[in-house]
Amino acid sequence: MYYVERYSFSINSREAFWAEQATNISWFKTPEQTLSVDEKGFYRWFKGGKMNTAYLALDYHVENGRGDQTALIYDSPATKSVKKYSYTELTSEVAKLAGGLKKLGVAKGDTVVIYMPMIPQAAMAMLACARLGAIHSVVFGGFAPHELAVRIDDAKPKVIISASCGIEFEKVIPYKPLLDDAVHAAEHKPDHCVIFQRPQAQAAMTEPRDVDYETLVADAEEAPCEIVDATDPLYILYTSGTTGKPKGIVRDNGGHAVAMHFSMKSIYNVEPGDVYWAASDVGWVVGHSYIIYAPLIYGCTTILFEGKPIRTPDAGTFWRVIEEHKVKCFFTAPTAFRAIKKEDPHAELMKKYDLSSLKAIYLAGERCDPPTLEWLQEITQLPILDHWWQTETGWGIVGNMVGIEAFPVKAGSATKPICGFELKILNEAGDELPANQNGYVCIKLPLPPGCLPTLWNDDERFQTSYLNTFEGYYLTGDGGYIDDDGYVFIMGRIDDVINVAGHRLSTGAMEEIIASHPAVAECAVVGIADELRGQRPVGFAVLKDGQAIDESTLEQNTVSLIREQIGAVAFYRNTILVKRLPKTRSGKILRKIMRQIADGESFNVPSTIDDPAILTEIAERLEERKIGSAFELLVK
Ligand code: COA
Ligand code: AMP
Repeated sequence: MYYVERYSFSINSREAFWAEQATNISWFKTPEQTLSVDEKGFYRWFKGGKMNTAYLALDYHVENGRGDQTALIYDSPATKSVKKYSYTELTSEVAKLAGGLKKLGVAKGDTVVIYMPMIPQAAMAMLACARLGAIHSVVFGGFAPHELAVRIDDAKPKVIISASCGIEFEKVIPYKPLLDDAVHAAEHKPDHCVIFQRPQAQAAMTEPRDVDYETLVADAEEAPCEIVDATDPLYILYTSGTTGKPKGIVRDNGGHAVAMHFSMKSIYNVEPGDVYWAASDVGWVVGHSYIIYAPLIYGCTTILFEGKPIRTPDAGTFWRVIEEHKVKCFFTAPTAFRAIKKEDPHAELMKKYDLSSLKAIYLAGERCDPPTLEWLQEITQLPILDHWWQTETGWGIVGNMVGIEAFPVKAGSATKPICGFELKILNEAGDELPANQNGYVCIKLPLPPGCLPTLWNDDERFQTSYLNTFEGYYLTGDGGYIDDDGYVFIMGRIDDVINVAGHRLSTGAMEEIIASHPAVAECAVVGIADELRGQRPVGFAVLKDGQAIDESTLEQNTVSLIREQIGAVAFYRNTILVKRLPKTRSGKILRKIMRQIADGESFNVPSTIDDPAILTEIAERLEERKIGSAFELLVK
């Protein structure tokens, strides 16, 4: 079967294509309609279908002869331990936790926030919610209490599931005080917090609100799988938008399960029973889709890795895991390999391991820079496959569908549109651009199964953020072009979202925090190039008249504010004082030009600029502070 045929079929006969794929999962009741439009006017997949995602990921495999196969390997260099769960064991653990949550009053349609480190109980918590038809919302452990509180207030969970601590390199990070602060700060209060006590830190419990995870499970009866509608939400995952308020991406059950199943063979080229490893975090979409749901729905063995690419204990740790567990398919973010390359440039550590099980490495989360791609190709001699996607879509939009037909890799391109995604490059006016012209990367509606049907409690924001710019299209927020051979090149965000070490963050959210400083009149945050993290945020601030605070004090204050309110993960380090911000005459801040100056890129000074001299001041200040590479190009 060739890509062109499959892809054309998926676009020209969407319903037939996805109806065919839907037969690959086990429904309690087959859908009545493959594609429909709901009362709000949004597209929905598999209406009338009855199912349960946790059933597909667990019980189904036990009933069909995979009970003894390892479902999940917890490999934790952080705690120097490895633990394996068969499908039978994982099903039972999940069913018991679901029984415990049920006793706490969690029922179908309720929301549950999960704030967990990378331990098996995080996976169990997600699957236990899915089993009950409850909607989970996992919050990345690196977020500070304020961010957690914002999500608690939006999701309004009945229960929060957390652990006593996480481990970052050698540092034990107690989670419970962060959780307590967040619950205190939030207006919405959960009925209960279920806490998994880890030996590295004991959490102080406030009874009766706080419940011990292990006691809850020990006393619980196994709960059966609830029957849910294909269109019922499976989870909410908050992601950064352009403002301080994160967007609650909704994932449904039916479309998601069908898309996850389809992707495993067609994109990742694995078979049921294979070992599949995504080294990400359950707090991110890659963790949801490719640590938990897709590999389990497909009957693979998945790995939950509690460690880092380096220093846990060294830059050979990824290769060790691949050898030890015979990983066939490996998926991570380019930043992880940049970290390894920095520590082990000649891949000496890799040579210690037998990587014969490994067939391909997949990258996503940020653009794969050609030097990292080429280094990986050279050291592993394996296919290195970049693919582009977003929290919103839940799976790849552009990739190399090697399970259908493998294409030669072009550095800088994620290859071709994935089946179901009708990709177009549009200009400002909404006209389709010819090959090789850069524009807005858009997806013609309807989006395929698995993508967001809407935003949690915010249909209007869904409409305005994604659908209103170009009628009939979903706006991805990325810019890029398609070359003469149909290869897609994603060139970066066109909005205020940045990607720091594979973590998606909003510069708008950081600006709101800096602007809250009493001395600051206005500010702008831009993502500048960073060798390891891809990008890092840098702030520019203008002081209010009469304020005499010095730059270093302001920097310390704002760095602390962002660390306290967003989290260390923002990696915010610098605030630069400037007299004014570059703006158009209508008052729009020219953030893109500020970034281009910092990155030493050439740019056109827009005719609408208020005062071009400000650009020189920006470059001079960057030079003075030795930040970015502006001074190399600009200050003459
Ligand atoms: N919980 C608590 N804190 C966290 C955290 C978590 N889950 N994740 C990161 N942090 C903290 C770090 O401890 C660090 O804190 P510090 O400033 O006090 O030292 C800060 O956030 C910045 O973290 P990071 O940018 O990740 O830097 P690092 O030096 O800890 O690690 C890498 C660098 C490249 C090894 C790491 O970012 C990495 O593995 N990235 C891959 C990300 C990834 O897989 N993303 C998934 C997308 S597919
Ligand atoms: P997230 O929602 O966290 O997955 O981040 C999605 C954003 O990350 C996209 O909109 C892109 O800007 C960027 N991104 C993810 N994967 C890639 C990739 N393979 N190539 C280029 N950009 C990517």
